[in-house]
Amino acid sequence: MTDFPEGSRDAIDVMREHGDKWSLRPYPSELVCDVVTDHGEILRLRPIRPDDAELLVRFHRGLSSDSIYRRYFSIHPELSDAEVRHLTQVDYVDRFAFIVESGNDLVGVGRYDRIPGTTEAEVAFIVADEYQHQGIGLLLLDHLADEAWSLGITEFTAETQADNRSMMGVFQASGFPVTSQLQDEVITARFPIQPTDQSRASRAARADRITLAGRGRGDRP
Ligand SMILES: CC(C)(COP(=O)(O)OP(=O)(O)OC[C@H]1O[C@@H](n2cnc3c(N)ncnc32)[C@H](O)[C@@H]1OP(=O)(O)O)[C@@H](O)C(=O)NCCC(=O)NCCS
Repeated sequence: MTDFPEGSRDAIDVMREHGDKWSLRPYPSELVCDVVTDHGEILRLRPIRPDDAELLVRFHRGLSSDSIYRRYFSIHPELSDAEVRHLTQVDYVDRFAFIVESGNDLVGVGRYDRIPGTTEAEVAFIVADEYQHQGIGLLLLDHLADEAWSLGITEFTAETQADNRSMMGVFQASGFPVTSQLQDEVITARFPIQPTDQSRASRAARADRITLAGRGRGDRP
């Protein structure tokens, strides 16, 4: 049987019994931190907020059609108002998104959505074209996995196009034991997110990409 982080499921069950979803968890400002790209640039990583709507729309407009297609599996130059609401308004428990910012620009988003009634969540990522291949995708996965695990989620799944080597590369580089299935040119990747010796070793090996401990944590909700 899977080991859940101590207390986390009890806490969530209690939260579910009380109040509506929007009051489940306040904005987790303790998760705001700085991260470093492979190019040495320091960026801000933080949970998304409802008032990031404009930032997200601007980010989306700046993406290449190829990146949009890989993320949304369709030609999708503009996000609808309903999509923007859905993407920016999360409950920080069953639906979570981290964004990465460079100054006033959004440069990456990683999110998970719990599959209702399960301990699985589907993940999706998108990084600005000019910031791809600098370690941001992997940083987003690290932070999402930590948070999801602490909230009782045990497994991530993702659908990605068969030729999306960057996305599969991120999953493989995480150190989690990834399995994948190919059907109709779409790969379904799946992996448990319980920390393992290998995932810890993988992180340690790229420690200079990871959060600068203490720098800026929590100072910008
Ligand atoms: C897929 C995507 C999110 C990856 O983000 P990224 O910031 O470019 O990813 P990273 O730089 O962390 O890592 C990706 C690469 O590094 C490799 N990598 C990262 N860390 C590594 C490590 N420690 N050791 C070995 N390889 C590593 C991966 O194999 C991959 O290879 P590539 O850059 O040569 O293609 C990004 O390319 C993107 O937004 N693409 C368009 C949207 C999309 O495809 N979304 C996925 C559908 S959910």
